[in-house]
Amino acid sequence: MNASLQGDFKINGLSLRSFVNLSPLEAEEVRRWRNHPEIRRFMYNDREIDSIEHIQFIESLRESSHSGYWVVHEENRPLGTLSLTRFNPLHHHAFLGIYANPFDSTKGRGKRLMEALLALSFSHFGLHTLKLEVMEENERAITLYETMGFVREGCWRDYIFKEGRYRSILLMGILNETL
Ligand SMILES: CC(C)(COP(=O)(O)OP(=O)(O)OC[C@H]1O[C@@H](n2cnc3c(N)ncnc32)[C@H](O)[C@@H]1OP(=O)(O)O)[C@@H](O)C(=O)NCCC(=O)NCCS
Repeated sequence: MNASLQGDFKINGLSLRSFVNLSPLEAEEVRRWRNHPEIRRFMYNDREIDSIEHIQFIESLRESSHSGYWVVHEENRPLGTLSLTRFNPLHHHAFLGIYANPFDSTKGRGKRLMEALLALSFSHFGLHTLKLEVMEENERAITLYETMGFVREGCWRDYIFKEGRYRSILLMGILNETL
């Protein structure tokens, strides 16, 4: 298993550039997406990220063997970002993260991003299973995950306290049936 999570990749006609290889301007663009209200509202940490925190986060990835983050482009069009965290080479699992570019409304970008992440996880990294956590009210993301073959594997009730009330978290997963 190749565990270099800080590499760049070309997958299904998409280019995946590691956060650690972005120019300062490109990194700033990613921060703009991450701070957009439509992205923040579905994140555990929903406060705005300032530029110092963002740079420190990217720096922290350089030596990481358990987290990788990528910006995805289709030709020159930025589709969004993908991540693998809690990457475990012993048990062949990881957790995914995804957000689409909130300034682009092309239909199907979620599916394109997910197809690339599944190919990266299963074909390149040789994972056996990919897991995720999603807020129960995030219907758009849940629809996407189910379309891609993820199934509901559990639920953490009232796990997150956000805007004055508790939110439950669905745990979903997909197996690489070829391994
Ligand atoms: C999740 C996300 C990446 C999906 O990307 P997207 O571009 O919206 O994805 P798509 O356009 O491919 O749509 C996904 C599916 O949801 C459906 N959908 C759209 N709006 C919906 C809604 N309000 N409720 C339910 N389903 C909805 C679409 O019709 C599509 O289903 P289909 O493929 O069966 O037609 C994107 O919405 C996003 O970045 N959300 C904010 C961050 C986030 O929630 N990340 C996930 C955290 S776990």
